[in-house]
Amino acid sequence: MTKTLSIAVVPGDGIGPEVVEAALPLLERAVALEGARLEPTSLDWGSDRYLSEGAAMPPDAAETVRAHDAVLFGAVGRPDVPPDVPVWGVILALRQALDLYVNLRPVTSWPGIAGPLRDGEGVDFTIVRENTEGEYAGVGGRSHVGTPEEVAIEVAVHSRRAIERVARYAFELALERRGLVSLVTKSNASRYGYPLWDEVVDEVASDFADIRYETVFADAMAARMIERPRSLDVLLCSNLFGDLLSDLGAPLQGGLGMAPSANVRPSGGAPGIFEPVHGSAPDIVGLGVANPCGCVLSGALMLRELGLEAAADALVRAVGAAVADPAVRTPDLGGEATTARLASAVAGALETVVA
Ligand code: NAD
Ligand code: IPM
Ligand code: MN
Repeated sequence: MTKTLSIAVVPGDGIGPEVVEAALPLLERAVALEGARLEPTSLDWGSDRYLSEGAAMPPDAAETVRAHDAVLFGAVGRPDVPPDVPVWGVILALRQALDLYVNLRPVTSWPGIAGPLRDGEGVDFTIVRENTEGEYAGVGGRSHVGTPEEVAIEVAVHSRRAIERVARYAFELALERRGLVSLVTKSNASRYGYPLWDEVVDEVASDFADIRYETVFADAMAARMIERPRSLDVLLCSNLFGDLLSDLGAPLQGGLGMAPSANVRPSGGAPGIFEPVHGSAPDIVGLGVANPCGCVLSGALMLRELGLEAAADALVRAVGAAVADPAVRTPDLGGEATTARLASAVAGALETVVA
């Protein structure tokens, strides 16, 4: 019997629908080539729904998602809605509700696509971002609103449980890669949260004798990602540092349009959400020039997670083959092609790489 995977598709706002529309047929084709089938269900969650119905997604959204094998997500955010509304209304809400505690953000370059590095050599490391708490815990408040005494407090939450589970994932991943974990903290300035990271990750490291382990302050890591990126393998980051460093990693991949991510719960029990690292890009929405590759590569991470390794590999190879041709590159990659043209080149390459 053909394996059928039920996928919730949340295109969202801005260029989200543009990249999802381009990527989904490619995922469907890659899966078909492996003898399986995708069954997508599109969900209208995001800012438009917020404006028309007062909520960016329905109250039972998490249950809806749980009825699927995975979620393909575009992006949320549009300029006429406060930025936290769709973000807390959809993506952060889902990451928390499903307890998707790992946000995996690989940073890999592509032959022929120039990045900011002087030597032009390739990079291959991965960011493992804690995805449930830290500065994203949503704890805080404001008092004396509108007065000169106004105060805002935003509390970063770091729990032993959350640090330990994401750290174990990072060390296990390093076993399959080049065997180095770099813990990114700021435990020189922070006296409570990041020192706990140091202690807990030290303990986890003692269970992985074969893994080299170092701690690097987040500011120094930002420089090292550009100066010596090939000295890196697995970066273990808190939520906010992982967010910032993954956008810093994007130019090394050719730009934000190329960067994929996976929100997953390695201990099981919830479907993953697969989304490009970028946002809704209001500055290019509607122009038909958004780069769909970050979304396609997020789809490849999704297929890998669902056990369709060959389909995932084929998609990655097809993206590489497509972007090697300057004629099909979108403007962010220095070309003049449209989203549709680049997607169609990936589609063509997909047929060749599996032939
Ligand atoms: P952004 O990632 O949307 O855009 C930053 C820059 O990168 C822009 O110049 C944009 O044109 C470019 N860019 C991004 N993706 C591209 C692509 N696929 N192809 C070509 N160029 C691309 O970040 P921002 O401007 O800070 O945020 C815009 C909105 O998106 C905000 O509302 C923000 O909150 C939201 N956002 C949402 C998500 C998400 O839903 N996961 C992620 C990040 C930002
Ligand atoms: C990302 C985004 C989100 C984050 C926003 C939209 C909340 O920037 O996925 O990188 O900060 O996690
Ligand atoms: Mn981000």
